[in-house]
Amino acid sequence: MDDISETEFPWWKKTVVYQIYPRSFYDSNGDGIGDLKGIISKLDYIQDLGIETIWFSPFFKSPKQDIGYDITDFYGIDPQYGDMKLNDKLIDEIHKRDMKIVLDLVLNHTSDQHPWFIESRSSRDNPKRDWYIWADGKRKNKPPTNWHSMIGGSGWQYDEKTEQWYWCQFLPFQPDLNYYNSEVKKEMFDMVRFWLRKKIDGFRLDIVDAICKDPSLRNNPFSLTFMPSDTSIKRFFRNSIYNLDHPDTFEFVKELRSVMDEFDNPQRFLVGEVITKETSARRYCGGDNVDGLHSVFLFRTLRTKHSAKKFRNLIEIFEENLKEPHIPTWVFSNHDRMRRISRLGNDISMAKLHAAFQLTVRGVPYIYYGEEIGMESPRMIVKESIDEMALKYKWIPQIAFDFVRKIAIESFNREEQRTPMQWNSSPNAGFCPADVKPWLPVPQSYKERNVESELNDPDSLLNCYKRFLKARNENPALKSGSIDILNLKKVSKDILGYIRRSSKQVVYVYLNFGNNNHKFKSPIVNGKILASTNLNKKQIQKEKIQLGPQEGIVII
Ligand code: GLC
Ligand code: CA
Repeated sequence: MDDISETEFPWWKKTVVYQIYPRSFYDSNGDGIGDLKGIISKLDYIQDLGIETIWFSPFFKSPKQDIGYDITDFYGIDPQYGDMKLNDKLIDEIHKRDMKIVLDLVLNHTSDQHPWFIESRSSRDNPKRDWYIWADGKRKNKPPTNWHSMIGGSGWQYDEKTEQWYWCQFLPFQPDLNYYNSEVKKEMFDMVRFWLRKKIDGFRLDIVDAICKDPSLRNNPFSLTFMPSDTSIKRFFRNSIYNLDHPDTFEFVKELRSVMDEFDNPQRFLVGEVITKETSARRYCGGDNVDGLHSVFLFRTLRTKHSAKKFRNLIEIFEENLKEPHIPTWVFSNHDRMRRISRLGNDISMAKLHAAFQLTVRGVPYIYYGEEIGMESPRMIVKESIDEMALKYKWIPQIAFDFVRKIAIESFNREEQRTPMQWNSSPNAGFCPADVKPWLPVPQSYKERNVESELNDPDSLLNCYKRFLKARNENPALKSGSIDILNLKKVSKDILGYIRRSSKQVVYVYLNFGNNNHKFKSPIVNGKILASTNLNKKQIQKEKIQLGPQEGIVII
């Protein structure tokens, strides 16, 4: 069906990625914890959905203080999830289905229980001392710089024994590696090669914007901005120029890219987790030279209001900065942030429209497990959480978190995003046996929102995803075509429309973000509907397009 070659437009530019949080997908052995065997048994489900690529949050050996983002062995599988044999089977089973596998690469830091760090902290003259970032305090009790970690407060941790401080960009048990040390870089790049030789198709790079920090440890300038945002490194009254988006990090990603390029059959790809403006996103991707990361997450989407104008604006910003040969990414949920449907007031029609948008706009969609069935982020009590990030703020009364959930529509307790996948309406949503306590409780809405019930209901959110995924997979214009926004201002401020064009195909997409009906002239007479949020629509009436509330269609 494709009318463009693999070299011109490689697979990773037209793929759809599904994110699995391994602990929460499917429990095969009844301990209440998801595992690799469980995932393998559910691969057919993901394939039937119409997904090509699966990204796994980390399942490497880890004390799991940050559930796998604190690694003690980059070459080992955590026994709670499986072993290397099962990992190899997982890769194999995914490839057998003509699908791709993306691993989460945590380069920035290790667990403080990693043997390297244990050595590093053992004495000032240990050969591994310089593998991490150690410095003297300014004076007693005063850290070396005024830098803040991503979650607020100083990221410097004091080590009593050697009387120096070590830097942690995230939580205190996740010390940052020192990439100015050539042994560290070599070790980590060799680890990347190890996984590439195992035929991993790509990596998601955890907080890659933090890799390099000012070697001369200068203080960050003051900034008035307090609240973190999805597009700025200014937060907590600091402009984090010396520890985030450092100029050397932009060079580092190019080196990493060249490691990836050693393995080019099939092509592999990188997607970077960066929190930054789209101009810097472009820089991470190598700018005009296109020799950096293949893609980066663009998180501006997460907090964008449900409106035609705002979504149009998103396309404009992304296209301005990441036009061909770059490619934008479309992310609306992940394991850290409130789930999409909860941001949409639990409204299934809106979620369907979002899916229609995400799967038809130019770029790579990222779907977080359960997003396709409308899984929500249920309210949980911060004090009872095991998420260390939430626990850092456990002294704040729950009422404040509830307020933030309601007014700012944001979740600070990451557990809310990590509940078990809802497979059916049996107890524990079929994630684990009925008499076992799953590691996190299943939200009550599982009774209606689960894979089995939704597969049986043609009008479900799940089947809506399937229709749009099918249309995308079968139509090159949607997979790899260009995009032009239509001017529909005269029709309604609520309608967003765009054309997707490949060399042999032109398709039109219309999305009604409002709650009124609209009727307007179609550019195509008797057009065929490739996909619609409305189950019963197959054909447009002569030259008129009719759109109901929150309805989205693709016509050809
Ligand atoms: C990223 C991950 C998050 C993790 C953190 C530290 O932001 O998405 O889950 O806790 O990095 O590795
Ligand atoms: Ca298990």
